[in-house]
Amino acid sequence: MSRHLLAMRLLEPTQITEILSTAAEYKELIVGGGRVERRNEKSVGLLFFENSTRTRVSFEQASHYLGYHTVNFSGAGSSMSTGETLKDTILTLRYERLEALVMRHQASGSPVLAARYFDGPVINAGDGQHEHPTQALGDALTILERKGDIQGLRVAIVGDVEHSRVARSNAWLLHKLGAEVRFVGPRTLLPSHTGKLPGTVYYDLATGIADADVVMCLRLQRERMSDGLLSSTGEYTRMYQINRSTLRYAAAEAIVLHPGPLNRGVEVDDHIADSDSSCINDQVTNGVFVRMAVLDWVFREAKEAQLA
Ligand code: NCD
Repeated sequence: MSRHLLAMRLLEPTQITEILSTAAEYKELIVGGGRVERRNEKSVGLLFFENSTRTRVSFEQASHYLGYHTVNFSGAGSSMSTGETLKDTILTLRYERLEALVMRHQASGSPVLAARYFDGPVINAGDGQHEHPTQALGDALTILERKGDIQGLRVAIVGDVEHSRVARSNAWLLHKLGAEVRFVGPRTLLPSHTGKLPGTVYYDLATGIADADVVMCLRLQRERMSDGLLSSTGEYTRMYQINRSTLRYAAAEAIVLHPGPLNRGVEVDDHIADSDSSCINDQVTNGVFVRMAVLDWVFREAKEAQLA
């Protein structure tokens, strides 16, 4: 049985902290100029059916640091454009002997299907509006570096929570590690069933981010929105943008996160995006190290299962 990383909701707090501490060790090693001992070469398939810059490149970079070989695959230009099903595509990659799959897909839950037909670890790199667990791990490492601990922090997740897999994975991770999670945004962009997610809802920015230690902004996911959810970008910006004056409601040393891609001047203004409170570049860097740790974690289990 392979170990997969499908959703943050399914992980134990000890598994999360294990991955985060391996990531911190990798960061120290690589940033300090060290190299990871060369492993048995593995082929890792990177299947991206949706656009990606940060996530795909950081999985490439993580695999490179680990000495693994990557095989890139996107829906366009493949047999899927002739109508091949996802199941048959996964079976093809299995019998071509790929050893792990990293997968981004527009359908929520599709990595679960992949895990059923693939004979090795499957890592969810974002499935529809559902989850994006490796993004949450990179964000958690960033918060840990700046704040020392996650337990007891007040974290406000601001914006388009409804369409955000980043918000869902972060909410689960932060809740499991003992933070207070708040969702802040217009009624139309907050999930109708927040009862199923760990967090409290606020429609007003000032109240929602009051005394928050971490303000996590989300991109407006226009590609997933139906008409009429947002009256105008200008109105959203006036009511929910994080800038010098709105950030004053948060705690004095509050940090600002954004998973990217950033709509500059909408979710966050230029001043804050480029200020010392912004962790955007650290989130990108840490994305590489948590993905190394995740590849390690899934392969370690596969090996242990084989030896047992
Ligand atoms: C996010 C994604 O694709 O879910 N980006 C990312 O992976 N860094 C968020 C987004 O697209 O807004």
